[in-house]
Amino acid sequence: MDLGIAGRTALVCGASKGLGLGCAEALVREGVNVVVVARGAEVLNAAAAQLEALAAGVANKPFVKAVAADITTPEGRAAAFAAHADYDIVVTNAGGPPPGDFRDWDREAWIKAVDANMLTPIELIKATVDGMAARGYGRIVNITSSSVKAPIDILGLSNGARSGLTGFVAGVARTPIAAKGVTINNLLPGAFDTDRLKGTMAGAAKKTGQDVEVLRAARQKNIPAGRFGTAEEFGAVCAFLCSLQAGYITGQNVLTDGGAYPGTY
Ligand SMILES: NC(=O)c1ccc[n+]([C@@H]2O[C@H](COP(=O)([O-])OP(=O)(O)OC[C@H]3O[C@@H](n4cnc5c(N)ncnc54)[C@H](OP(=O)(O)O)[C@@H]3O)[C@@H](O)[C@H]2O)c1
Repeated sequence: MDLGIAGRTALVCGASKGLGLGCAEALVREGVNVVVVARGAEVLNAAAAQLEALAAGVANKPFVKAVAADITTPEGRAAAFAAHADYDIVVTNAGGPPPGDFRDWDREAWIKAVDANMLTPIELIKATVDGMAARGYGRIVNITSSSVKAPIDILGLSNGARSGLTGFVAGVARTPIAAKGVTINNLLPGAFDTDRLKGTMAGAAKKTGQDVEVLRAARQKNIPAGRFGTAEEFGAVCAFLCSLQAGYITGQNVLTDGGAYPGTY
C-alpha cells in the first residue's frame, strides 16, 4: 500500500537504534525525508549511513540528516529545528526512565523522567502543530509504553510520567487542529527485542541469579504471540499512523504487544 507520504519530512527522535530507528527506516521506505536525533554521535552516524543506503533505493531518494543532540534539552530541540523547520511528521522518543523502587526516587529523578517522557514530547508538539495545521497536514506519534495501560511496578517513573503525556495528548488531539489534518497518537510498545529490553533482562538475570536465556524464554511464553516484537514491525505501525490513510485516527493509544495486554478495552 502506498502510504501517500513520499516527499514529506519527519523528525524522528531517539533514532540511532531500537524502536526509533525502526520508525525512521519505515518512513524512509515510504520516501519520507528524515532528520534523526540521538545523543551518541558514533552510533547515530552509523544509523544515518544505514538509512541513506536505504534511501538510495527509494524512488524519490529522500534525504537523511543526523543531529547528535539531547532532545530533552532546549538546545537539543533547537538543533533539531535548525536542521529543518517545517516538519510534517514528528516521532517523539527518548530513553525510558530506569526501573527501581519508588522509595529511592527523589525529586530530581522524577523531574528527569517527567522532562524526558512528558515535557519533551509536549514541547515538540507545541513547536510543530500550528505550522502543520496551517499547511493542512501533520502527524505526531509519541512512542510511550504498554505500561500506560498495564503499569509495571518497578517502572513507576515511566508509569507516572507517560500517563501525564497520555492525558495531555487526549485533550490536545481533539482541539481545532484535528479539523486541519493534524493527528496526534501514542504508540505503545509491549516487549520489543531492542538494547533496552536486552539491558533490563540482563539486569533481572543478575539480580535473580538466573540464566538470561531462561528469563527471556519465560517472558516470551507469557506473550500470546510467543515472542518479542521487532523494531521493523513497530516501525511499520508508526509509518501507517503517519500515512494519509490514517487521517481519521487521532487521540488514540495504539498497543503493539503481541496480545500481552489482557483486557478487552
Ligand atoms: N523495547 C521495549 O520493549 C520497550 C517497551 C516499552 C517501552 N519502551 C520505550 O520505548 C522507547 C524506545 O525504546 P527502545 O527499546 O528503542 O530503546 P533503545 O534501544 O535503548 O534506544 C533508545 C534510543 O533513544 C536515544 N535516546 C535516549 N535518550 C535520548 C535523548 N535524551 N535524546 C535523544 N535521543 C535519546 C538512544 O540514543 P542515545 O542513547 O545515543 O541518545 C537510542 O537511539 C523508550 O522510551 C522505552 O522506554 C520500549
